[in-house]
Amino acid sequence: MAMQADLKLVEHDEDGVDLAFRAEVLRGLSEQQKAIPARWFYDMAGSELFEEVTRLPEYYPSRVETRLLESHAGKIAEFVGPGRVVVEFGSGSSVKTPLLLRELDASAYVPLDISGEFLRRSCSELSAKFPELTIIPIEANFMRSVHLPGSVEDLARIGFFPGSTIGNLVPHTAIDLLRSMRDTLGDRSQLLIGIDRYKNVDRLIAAYDDTQGITASFNLNLLTRINRELGGNIPLDRFRHVARWNPLWSRIEMHLEATDDVAFTVSGKDVQMREGETIHTENSHKYTPDQASLLLKASGWTPIHLWTDAADDFMLILADATEHRSAP
Ligand code: AVI
Repeated sequence: MAMQADLKLVEHDEDGVDLAFRAEVLRGLSEQQKAIPARWFYDMAGSELFEEVTRLPEYYPSRVETRLLESHAGKIAEFVGPGRVVVEFGSGSSVKTPLLLRELDASAYVPLDISGEFLRRSCSELSAKFPELTIIPIEANFMRSVHLPGSVEDLARIGFFPGSTIGNLVPHTAIDLLRSMRDTLGDRSQLLIGIDRYKNVDRLIAAYDDTQGITASFNLNLLTRINRELGGNIPLDRFRHVARWNPLWSRIEMHLEATDDVAFTVSGKDVQMREGETIHTENSHKYTPDQASLLLKASGWTPIHLWTDAADDFMLILADATEHRSAP
């Protein structure tokens, strides 16, 4: 393996507090509808709980996407061609990433992730499987365009964004992200993206409120993280996990609902919540193929192929960076 030194792009204060985490939590808790961006779920414990979620019987997306990659990675490789740098947005699942890398004749693998620890761990697993592959992990918030290292600057790229993470963003932010991916990846790049499909609402609710309570632990871990990293004293036993369908936005919403009136502090700031009031912690939008195609086109990507399963649960879309040219 040729694992190069990773580039550190996340800012901390002198006590090691992630400045963006503190700012976003304090802003979110001061709003009328309290809300914290879902990306903060993924500390070490949250990333591990999420891996558990992906193995739940009710949570079909990971299983179905894995099967799609198992069945179609060979065909995808034909569309992509050899020698591209694979830039993965998110540090990669130990299951899905190898399925793609096994078939693509990639020149390097560049995973981008906000959680440095998780990134390093998944890279060392991957390098054991692909000892010849150059791996360049980058700790970064990929919501903004990321400058890729000089060693891969001149090579054509393919972005890989599995897991339907795009669904966690409201459509206008999803478009911002897809556009900045296009900036990161450049002209003549491609994008392979996994997107969860709109379907029966009872199945969707079950996928986000499993009987074993793993999704509830994943959601509540955010409060544990706030208490630990931001000196909070949020009473965890006064909150419960809630998953709801929002038909207007075609999305599952996760909330943390106060089961009593509560008062607590975070980073020295006082917060009060009434019984039944919630902190909105995640959106998971579900798209039809037509909606997904429009989302990509609106972001500078031209869909060229779509793979889906027999039950129409999930889709993998391959898109080309749309050429910049004058439009009539
Ligand atoms: C990461 N993301 C695509 C997951 C989803 O399905 O929206 C996160 C998740 N939340 C609860 N279960 C899974």
